[in-house]
Amino acid sequence: MDKQQLVIFDTTLRDGEQSPGASMTREEKLRVAKALEKLRVDVIEAGFAVSSQGDFEAVKSIADTIKDSTVCSLARTTHVDIERAAEALKNARSARIHTFIATSPIHMKYKLQMTPDQVVEQAVSAVKLARNKVGDVEFSLEDASRSEFDFMCRIIEQVINAGARTINLPDTVGYGFPAEYADTIGRLIAAVPNADKAIFSVHCHNDLGLAVANSLAAVMQGARQIECTINGLGERAGNAALEEIVMAVRTRKDIFPVETHIDTTQIVATSRLVSSITGFPVQPNKAIVGANAFAHESGIHQDGVLKYRETYEIMKAQDVGWSTNKIVLGKLSGRAAFSSRLDALGIQFDSKTVMNEAFLRFKELADKKREIYDEDLQALVSEIQVKEDGIEHIILGDLAVTTKTGQLPNAALSLTYKGEHYRTSADGDGPVDAVFKAIEKLINSQAELKLYLVNAVTEGTDSQGEVTVRLEKGGRIVNGQGADTDILVASARAYLNALSVLENPDRLHPQLGGV
Ligand code: KIV
Ligand code: ZN
Repeated sequence: MDKQQLVIFDTTLRDGEQSPGASMTREEKLRVAKALEKLRVDVIEAGFAVSSQGDFEAVKSIADTIKDSTVCSLARTTHVDIERAAEALKNARSARIHTFIATSPIHMKYKLQMTPDQVVEQAVSAVKLARNKVGDVEFSLEDASRSEFDFMCRIIEQVINAGARTINLPDTVGYGFPAEYADTIGRLIAAVPNADKAIFSVHCHNDLGLAVANSLAAVMQGARQIECTINGLGERAGNAALEEIVMAVRTRKDIFPVETHIDTTQIVATSRLVSSITGFPVQPNKAIVGANAFAHESGIHQDGVLKYRETYEIMKAQDVGWSTNKIVLGKLSGRAAFSSRLDALGIQFDSKTVMNEAFLRFKELADKKREIYDEDLQALVSEIQVKEDGIEHIILGDLAVTTKTGQLPNAALSLTYKGEHYRTSADGDGPVDAVFKAIEKLINSQAELKLYLVNAVTEGTDSQGEVTVRLEKGGRIVNGQGADTDILVASARAYLNALSVLENPDRLHPQLGGV
């Protein structure tokens, strides 16, 4: 049987970023977009251009850079939204405007305060305007799973006539149930007279834990685009997880009439990148990308796998990018080996100074840790790449922490900021608290610590600790990362990286000040 293409539309940078606290700077969004391009997603929803100047710039820089995926911006059905989306996308090699309006009785009556006729009229004129700007327009019926069937048929027919080429039917509130949701999609495709001129798409939220099941059930009834996010990030309980969708379709090719273009070997690296940038950890038992997803604990299982892998494994860990912990570099590796490994991992530095710093940090690490894995390099550059964002960073000098049973830990440290050197020390309730208090004694940011997260990059006690710190001040939320074999150093760097972004007034949070 010839397989049809299932379009993978990734909305990590738009709906994913709507997870409270998952804010990303423009540079971080661009890094994720490059990883998504490498993963070969078909469409990258880069943001909601009208929502703020920061998000406009993020969509624009992604549109200016990405070549192999379509770049999309969300827009309400208003003139200003569509103009702004088109402006941000103007240099994209392949651009899509995704416009939406709610179609359920409850949303039309209470939220929009519009009649169904007004909703149809506004949807049609938005799609026409968007089609004047770009050739590829998607229309979403927000809250479709609670919308009336006949009304959906009417609006879909008219927006397709107006030029929409993708019709998305979101389960906005995660209310759908697989058989029922899929049945509605199938009936819509059969009932709308011009349905053959559009691709029908699904976008499911995970409030009842059914986002992936609902999306896949809809594919069985004719949906040919799935909107999803890396690690299932997204508003409230999240969206359908890209990695689960893609691996389900691939593993059960015996039942799915579709295939995707995804390079599955990039899944784990992309998951790690999104997790470290957003500070949203991946639970160990998460399908595909959780640390235990391919670990067999029970003796019976281990015995079976050793005798014949397929007894207990339906997928190969390597197929989704779990490396076999190959030693890639060590103390004797030079600059050429270092940069060729970075190339292989798809990591580039635009600035020579930042590249030099990355190499120095690699050498420092190789002195402390004999075996350097890909994961070590990714953690190391994850912290250093933020230095390419053009903002003035607060740099950690030396750090000494003393702890003794029965005494308060003390941290003594030095910092460099705007060319000046500072030194201080502070006691804290624990060693990390002492480090943060010492930094605050010098910077006095008045930011609130929202998250402190440590993750071991590889196995063993010599592993680097990768720390994420989330700070909030005046409604602005930023994340910072740091990696080192000494987790107190990693913690200090993560805190300083977050502060550097926070202290820079030009760096607006992408979703602040907008809609
Ligand atoms: O969940 C939803 O309905 C959305 C739309 C804007 C597509 O995110
Ligand atoms: Zn959504």
